[in-house]
Amino acid sequence: MDPSGKKAVVVGGASGMARATAELLTKKGATVAILDRATSAGADVAKLLGNGATFHPCDVTDAEGTEAALAAALAAMGAIHIAVNTAGGGIGSRTIGRDGPHPLDAFRSVVELNLIATFNLNRLQAWHMSKNDPDEDDERGVIINTASIAAFEGQIGQVAYTAAKAGIAAMSLTMARDLGSFGIRVNAIAPSLFATGAVAGIPDEMATALVRDAAFPKRMGRPDEYAKLALSIIENAMLNGGTIRLDAGQRFAPR
Ligand SMILES: NC(=O)c1ccc[n+]([C@@H]2O[C@H](COP(=O)([O-])OP(=O)(O)OC[C@H]3O[C@@H](n4cnc5c(N)ncnc54)[C@H](O)[C@@H]3O)[C@@H](O)[C@H]2O)c1
Repeated sequence: MDPSGKKAVVVGGASGMARATAELLTKKGATVAILDRATSAGADVAKLLGNGATFHPCDVTDAEGTEAALAAALAAMGAIHIAVNTAGGGIGSRTIGRDGPHPLDAFRSVVELNLIATFNLNRLQAWHMSKNDPDEDDERGVIINTASIAAFEGQIGQVAYTAAKAGIAAMSLTMARDLGSFGIRVNAIAPSLFATGAVAGIPDEMATALVRDAAFPKRMGRPDEYAKLALSIIENAMLNGGTIRLDAGQRFAPR
């Protein structure tokens, strides 16, 4: 799908990888609606983007509020052709710890934030996309979700995050199959460590240790590298139903 003239919803777009994607999509001629927390820099980012960009505050764990924010984005833009979803995060807790078993509520909330919120976004985004007229390649929409290489090599203490991200990775093919007859594609990106959010503040020494298992380059990824892959997925209609690692050949060790 050529992003020029298309309408894109970028969830988590106030910061990091999604912000870089919003910037690149705007540069390619798309109009962007940012969904992010009310306390985020979403309004300022939308202003900086220009080309009719708008901001719609929501917490993705609030299903009804998210539905309303998506409806507002749709009303502002008239359609949704592209959806990039990055809001998410994890906690550190082992299956059993010194003080007892993993708190079940903490496991639930990580699955809620990453997996259930992503599926909620996807089902609504796909519904809106299904109303689009097909483009010259019969495409109505492209959905990109954010997994993690922890989906495949979860480290010690990442059991909840791994389960949630593995769910996001596993949904890609099934949703692509569900949505194929509508001309809607679904892919996930599985980054290794990227210099964004909380990870950006990691001291240099620790960062070097964290990327020691990468093949090349031995550094954290940059937000624009996520954005470039997102753009490739949007532009290349043969990319569908998969989870693409963006990891410099890194395989997480147990810790
Ligand atoms: N940074 C990494 O090393 C790394 C590696 C693998 C996967 N990821 C995944 O990338 C995503 C985070 O992206 P980033 O690294 O660019 O981080 P980031 O912190 O720069 O951006 C995340 C954005 O999502 C928003 N957000 C978070 N929770 C939200 C909620 N409940 N409702 C609405 N918005 C919310 C934040 O306000 C923020 O603007 C997460 O899904 C994370 O699991 C990150």
